[in-house]
Amino acid sequence: MKHIIITGASRGLGSALTSTFIEAGNHLYCIARSKNEELIQHAKTKNCRIDWFQVDLSDSLVVESTMKSIFEQIWKQDVDELVLINNAGIVQPIKRAERCTAEEVQTHFHVNLVAPIILTATFIKSSLSFNGTKQVINISSGAGKHPISGWSAYCSAKAGLDLYSRTVALEQSEATYPVKVMSFSPGIIDTDMQSDIRSSSKDDFAQIETFIDYKQSGRLQTPLQVASIIKKVLSDPSIEQGVLLSVNDFQ
Ligand SMILES: NC(=O)c1ccc[n+]([C@@H]2O[C@H](COP(=O)([O-])OP(=O)(O)OC[C@H]3O[C@@H](n4cnc5c(N)ncnc54)[C@H](OP(=O)(O)O)[C@@H]3O)[C@@H](O)[C@H]2O)c1
Repeated sequence: MKHIIITGASRGLGSALTSTFIEAGNHLYCIARSKNEELIQHAKTKNCRIDWFQVDLSDSLVVESTMKSIFEQIWKQDVDELVLINNAGIVQPIKRAERCTAEEVQTHFHVNLVAPIILTATFIKSSLSFNGTKQVINISSGAGKHPISGWSAYCSAKAGLDLYSRTVALEQSEATYPVKVMSFSPGIIDTDMQSDIRSSSKDDFAQIETFIDYKQSGRLQTPLQVASIIKKVLSDPSIEQGVLLSVNDFQ
């Protein structure tokens, strides 16, 4: 059985990923603050096991225990393959660095960087003796590769996620039963995150017109288009350990 852990499964790209992986023979472990009942019902009709963990990933204390309880369930079953998709993310605060509050910055880094780090570490530790396919894909962003005014937290958290992925991949290349760790920039997708960006003020986000134009000119991808590319990445053994992938590599 393939066991797939997906964060931010309730909406946007995470919901599309969950839907894409709903197949008999898969067991999905979905993490988000809210539940998506439609996906749960859909999984039932397809004979796919799905467990939902309503967890706030900004609360670092519950992140590790959530992953541990997922693995307690996993080891009671047949295991052929293990996958972790660190997808949950937030873009706020969108404003100049000096206007961000300590609380906003702390929440941002907990969701976008600390939670994926704890989840990845616990995933590796919990599966050390498993000699099967093990993969972690961290959903990053082009914003982690160059600065965007008004997005200091988002750009730096995603840059941190990229270098974390490469560092852990380096360690795993020397492991007995390595976990393949990758980072994937999904491009611009038509989700709540994009509406959130478009609803910023020009004073906080100078590039707002560009993002309004992306939507109006139909340049946004659908979450399902991107989810199907991520599914292909996860089934391609030729993709190397530690790579920073972009959706553009597959279009
Ligand atoms: N959309 C884009 O254009 C774009 C571009 C580049 C990269 N990305 C990246 O792609 C990923 C998915 O983004 P999206 O566009 O699908 O975003 P979205 O539509 O805003 O969905 C975000 C997901 O993250 C979950 N989440 C947010 N805060 C959480 C928290 N504190 N605890 C647990 N879960 C939380 C949300 O679930 P709940 O609210 O139910 O908790 C939701 O399922 C993110 O990592 C994002 O940075 C997106």
